[in-house]
Amino acid sequence: MRVLVTTASRHGATREIGDVVADVLREAGHDVVVLDPDDVERVDGYDAVVLGSAVYVGRLAAALRELVDRQAEQLAARPVWLFWSGRLGVPAMPVTEPDDVGVVARRVRARDVRAFGGRLQRERLGLAERALAAMIDAEAGDFRDLDEVARWARGVARELEVSRGGRPAAGAPAAAPPARPSDPR
Ligand SMILES: Cc1cc2nc3c(=O)[nH]c(=O)nc-3n(C[C@H](O)[C@H](O)[C@H](O)COP(=O)(O)O)c2cc1C
Repeated sequence: MRVLVTTASRHGATREIGDVVADVLREAGHDVVVLDPDDVERVDGYDAVVLGSAVYVGRLAAALRELVDRQAEQLAARPVWLFWSGRLGVPAMPVTEPDDVGVVARRVRARDVRAFGGRLQRERLGLAERALAAMIDAEAGDFRDLDEVARWARGVARELEVSRGGRPAAGAPAAAPPARPSDPR
C-alpha cells in the first residue's frame, strides 16, 4: 500500500520517530513517502496516512493542524494513525494530553492515537524556548523509546495487512497475522 508518513517537528526528535515508523512500514512491504506537513497538498494519492507532531505549550504543531484543516475530509476517508511526542522526565511530564489531540483524532477518525516520550536538548533551543522550558520546568534529556515506536508501527503494519485483505505485498515478507482475542501474545 502507498502510505504517507508526515511529521511536524521543530528540533528533530519527532521527525526521527516518524522515520522509525516509515522504516518499519517499508520493511513490511509498503511504499512509504515521508513529507513535512507543509509539503502535503493532498492525501488522496495515499491508501493510508500516519500523522505525527511535537507538542509545545500544550498544543500540536500548527503545521500538523493546518494539514488537518486542509485535508480533513480526505483524511477521514482513509485509515489514519496519529502520534505525538512531548512528555519529558521520569515520571513523564506533563501528564495531561493536549486538548487538540482529541479534536484532531476525531476529525481524521484516527484508528489509534499514541503518545511517545520527547527529547529536549537545551543547546538546540532559541532564547524564548529556553525561557519557556525553564518556566514549565521541562527536564532535558531523551525520553523517547524507539523500540516502543517500532512495536507500535508493526501494529500499524498489521492493520494495513488486514485492510488489504491479509495478502502481503508482492515480494514483501509476510507480516505477522493480527492477534486474535484468544491469542496469548
Ligand atoms: C518551550 C517548550 C515547551 C514544551 N511544551 C510541552 C508541552 O506542553 N507538552 C509536552 O508534552 N511536551 C512539551 N515540550 C516537550 C517537546 O514536545 C519535546 O521536547 C519534543 O520531543 C520536541 O520535539 P521536536 O524535537 O520534534 O520539536 C516542550 C518543549 C519546549 C522546549
